[in-house]
Amino acid sequence: MKTMKPMVFVSRNIPDKGLDLMKGKVSLEVWPGEDNPGRDVFLEKAASCDGLVVIPGDPIDSEVLAAGKFLKIVSCYAVGYDSIDVNAATELGIMVTNTPDVLTETTADLAFGLLLAAARRIGEGDRVIRSGGWKHWGPRFMLGQDVSGATLGLIGMGRIGQAVSRRAKSFGMNLLYYARHRNEIAEREYGARYMEMETLLTVSDFVSIHCPLTSSTEGLIGERQLRAMKPTSILVNTSRGRVVVEKELVRALQEGWISGAGLDVFEKEPLPPDHPFLYMENVILCPHLGSATVQTREKMSVMAAENLLAALDGHTPRFLVNPTVRRKD
Ligand code: DGY
Repeated sequence: MKTMKPMVFVSRNIPDKGLDLMKGKVSLEVWPGEDNPGRDVFLEKAASCDGLVVIPGDPIDSEVLAAGKFLKIVSCYAVGYDSIDVNAATELGIMVTNTPDVLTETTADLAFGLLLAAARRIGEGDRVIRSGGWKHWGPRFMLGQDVSGATLGLIGMGRIGQAVSRRAKSFGMNLLYYARHRNEIAEREYGARYMEMETLLTVSDFVSIHCPLTSSTEGLIGERQLRAMKPTSILVNTSRGRVVVEKELVRALQEGWISGAGLDVFEKEPLPPDHPFLYMENVILCPHLGSATVQTREKMSVMAAENLLAALDGHTPRFLVNPTVRRKD
């Protein structure tokens, strides 16, 4: 007897390797557009599918999940799954998975790249040349901040925080960190010193954020924290925009509470066309490129597909984020 294949909706055109793994095993629909399909589409697909593959920012809220009468798995093509209501999924018996590890080094590269670019004014220098503003080599022309030997404060010391620590160590930086839990590996191997966040902010030359967005990290860096930082310091954020209160960061950069920022993530993505950051020379911006390399995105697609197929096959996916879920088979 021929059995029906499980129906799967993939919300963006992820790299072929992952799609190829799923082809033939499931009845696959890939959203053809590059923009977010919108909540109505997710409601409709949740109602008709056994599995969804989604990306950061896709609105997988409790209502979308509740529409998923047959939905067994939401496989997130990212490590951060903050736009999925995991509690609701768990209650409804829906597995949620993510793609950790494979993007750690790639994201750390970008964080360190933003740190260097902001410190040495690389984006600004490029613009100065292109706009004809480079008239001379000047003893005081476009001075930046030293990275080697400076103090880096990390907020969050998970996989990516540790990968940034390795890079920082080879630049001879002093490492401080604040996290929910002490991390012995980071202390032993990278010499990172644990510190309360308020103290870390006052003594660091660079602060780089590596915690997930949760109800307790949303708005973690606001006016008080930014005012505590050194006026010469630089903030780097490659985690999630909402960990920082963006309007306070705008003030901090405009009023000189800190000297610069390197940002890959924003409260609202894509960044609105009239956003104040666009008019600031002391901010270097990236369009959420943390994991964006050919190799890493390919690995993420394989991992997202493997998580999904395992769940639909009646197995426990390797990267299950809600292990207490009582699956609906
Ligand atoms: C993630 O995996 O959470 C990243 O933000 C995607 O690049």
